[in-house]
Amino acid sequence: MRTLTKRNILSLLLGLQLVAVALTLEQFQSELQLESESESGSETSSLSHRRVKRIVGGKSAKPPPVDDPVVFARVFNRDTRIEGYRNPNTGIYSFLGIHYAEPPVGPLRYSRPVYKRLSGDINATRHGSPCIQPHPQQPRRIIGDENCLLVNVYTPQMPDETTGLPVFVWIHPGGFRYGSAAQYDATPMAQQGAIVVAPQYRLGSLGILGDGTKEFDGNLAMFDLAAALRWVTDYIANFGGNPKQVQAIGHGSGAASAMYLSMSRAARSGGDVHGVVAMSGTALSQYAMDKEPVQSVQEVAKINNCPTGNELEIVNCMRAKSAEEIIQNDAKVQTERLAGRALVKGLTGNTGFQPHIEAEDDYRSLPSLLIGEPEQQLRSGNYTGIPLLTGVTKHETANSVTVDTLNKVYGSVEQFLGSLQGALKQLTGFLRIDKLTGDIAKPVLPGLTNVLTPTLQDVWKVPQALNVDQVLAKVVESTTDVLFNLPAVLTTQVWSKLAPAYMYSFEYNGTKSKGINFLRGLPIVSEQAQDKPELVAHGDELGYMFDANDIFGEPLSETRLTSEDDLLVRKNLIDMLLQFAKQGEKKDGAVTSKLFQSITGGGTPFIKVDTQLEAASDFRFCELSVLGASLSPLSSTSCAALGGLLGQLGGGVGQTVGGVGQTVGGVGNKLGLGGVGQTLGLGGGGGNNNNNNRRGGGLGLGLL
Ligand SMILES: *[C@@H]1O[C@H](CO)[C@@H](O)[C@H](O)[C@H]1NC(C)=O
Ligand SMILES: *[C@@H]1O[C@H](CO)[C@@H](O)[C@H](O)[C@H]1NC(C)=O
Ligand SMILES: *[C@@H]1O[C@H](CO)[C@@H](O)[C@H](O)[C@H]1NC(C)=O
Repeated sequence: MRTLTKRNILSLLLGLQLVAVALTLEQFQSELQLESESESGSETSSLSHRRVKRIVGGKSAKPPPVDDPVVFARVFNRDTRIEGYRNPNTGIYSFLGIHYAEPPVGPLRYSRPVYKRLSGDINATRHGSPCIQPHPQQPRRIIGDENCLLVNVYTPQMPDETTGLPVFVWIHPGGFRYGSAAQYDATPMAQQGAIVVAPQYRLGSLGILGDGTKEFDGNLAMFDLAAALRWVTDYIANFGGNPKQVQAIGHGSGAASAMYLSMSRAARSGGDVHGVVAMSGTALSQYAMDKEPVQSVQEVAKINNCPTGNELEIVNCMRAKSAEEIIQNDAKVQTERLAGRALVKGLTGNTGFQPHIEAEDDYRSLPSLLIGEPEQQLRSGNYTGIPLLTGVTKHETANSVTVDTLNKVYGSVEQFLGSLQGALKQLTGFLRIDKLTGDIAKPVLPGLTNVLTPTLQDVWKVPQALNVDQVLAKVVESTTDVLFNLPAVLTTQVWSKLAPAYMYSFEYNGTKSKGINFLRGLPIVSEQAQDKPELVAHGDELGYMFDANDIFGEPLSETRLTSEDDLLVRKNLIDMLLQFAKQGEKKDGAVTSKLFQSITGGGTPFIKVDTQLEAASDFRFCELSVLGASLSPLSSTSCAALGGLLGQLGGGVGQTVGGVGQTVGGVGNKLGLGGVGQTLGLGGGGGNNNNNNRRGGGLGLGLL
């Protein structure tokens, strides 16, 4: 295997057609290990990444000046010289469009990536092509290229004598259908001392489709990302990064991907990951997995006029199509899959494409990446624990639906909210279930009598007295709880059995940074986001980590942050990420920072990200308890404010007197008890930081 050349590999592939890329990650891996072992003998290891004079292409290269944006690397006995760009205003170096895999075209379409080693002169001064996808603003226009497996690297410094800087591998969001690395200018993160590597991965049915059979196993986007992680392990020291401090970080579909990769033995043996950051999405997010991949393959084959007899036929037919045609036809999948009542999927950032579970043993030696349901894998704890940071924005779904749409599709908002029950079902294994009824058990909440404790059904009723804004606020609150907050908290709960798990809540309502700047095309974002400045919706935090570019890498200058508060929030968010990366350094996971409290004991600690970075606790304790989470509150927390809910439902009999949480006389008649359940709210809800911004008017369930 050691002498495999690119040409051999290609002829092998061509010769065997489908014999699904004989080069497995593992084979590569063992080959690489052999070579890097022999290499390390020839270099003094501690200095091996210093920029020294190199021979490139037979000629002696000039030694680089200190600030020169040029990286020299000698890995696998190959010399390479990578020319990037150093921004004179920020001092940040960028190396753009470096290919980590061979172009996945021809026989390599629908095949696993073929890792590409760097060699020779590489001009990394310009963004490469995005992966082929619909134009975000003109969906009928197809942009990008199949040859798109590249990384961008942003770094504040060239290698020196130190062990290097922490590395964040940014897995961009886009519902596995949209997005590019070029959108995310990581200069702000590099300015605070992080190295960011942003890989691209195949999108749409070119990147996801497959059913785990050996003819058409699919999940190629995941394998692309695994190869990119390996690239980071192999090369990042040459860019000033510490390969022992690599964080996989992603948002939305990218967050689910980051978790899958960090839980996968095959991926982690290919490129080591030391921490995972899952922003607004986790492996537990509903709909993060395609549960019916065989049907998906059939569906896409049919849409593309391919025979649906067997996988071999399908792959051969799809390989013969133009990539434009395939991507064009993906639109039909999105439309069909998110239509009607399935629109709730769109509320999670879904576009109709998700990875699927692969067969564990498909009778060839290729390692699988995604084995088994993530729910089961998380519960069984059968994965290597590394620190996890996950979090949400305050009103994730704020831009995703209108009351009109819900009325049209579901008949009423109340019916829609009732349908969230279906989304909860997938999480049943993590929730408090009443053994007799099989339903979610009513919690015991501090500050509330049993009679006044709302059930799930109560929570999802829509009181008559609400106006349209309030109804929408209730929809946003309930869907954010079920689709984002609950999965995030449950994930940290199970994860913390193996490794430290932390949670954040992004709560700053800035006006410049909106999810639409990065996530156009996803049903969860909207062009109208600017009209709701008070809300903090899906993707609104991205502009604090990155300067937004368009899909090709052209700066979206009007989105640049300028206000003092915006810049403060940027500093805080990035500071949190860097502290997390350093937290992971400690072998015992010992908590030294007040900010980072793992979700082990009671109190559901979380980090509140706003103009201040604060340690807070009891993240939506009352609301998530009603949804079935087993949480233990701090002693200061009271759910008295929830008591007003039943009063509201009783037709406004429950009257709110005075300040927050002071409810007098909630009526229990919804429970058919007839009598008045009297409670005197204890007021405040001390430790529950999420109570603070509730509107007046006694709406118990905190209408934002
Ligand atoms: C790299 O590419 C850019 C843009 O195509 C070009 O202007 C520059 O001269 C190239 N650099 C080298 C060393 O070829
Ligand atoms: C854990 O996962 C590995 C595959 O990653 C599998 O071979 C093994 O049987 C699993 N163990 C348990 C207890 O499920
Ligand atoms: C953001 O929220 C605060 C209250 O939390 C409010 O005072 C402020 O007006 C909001 N900002 C915008 C732009 O809506």
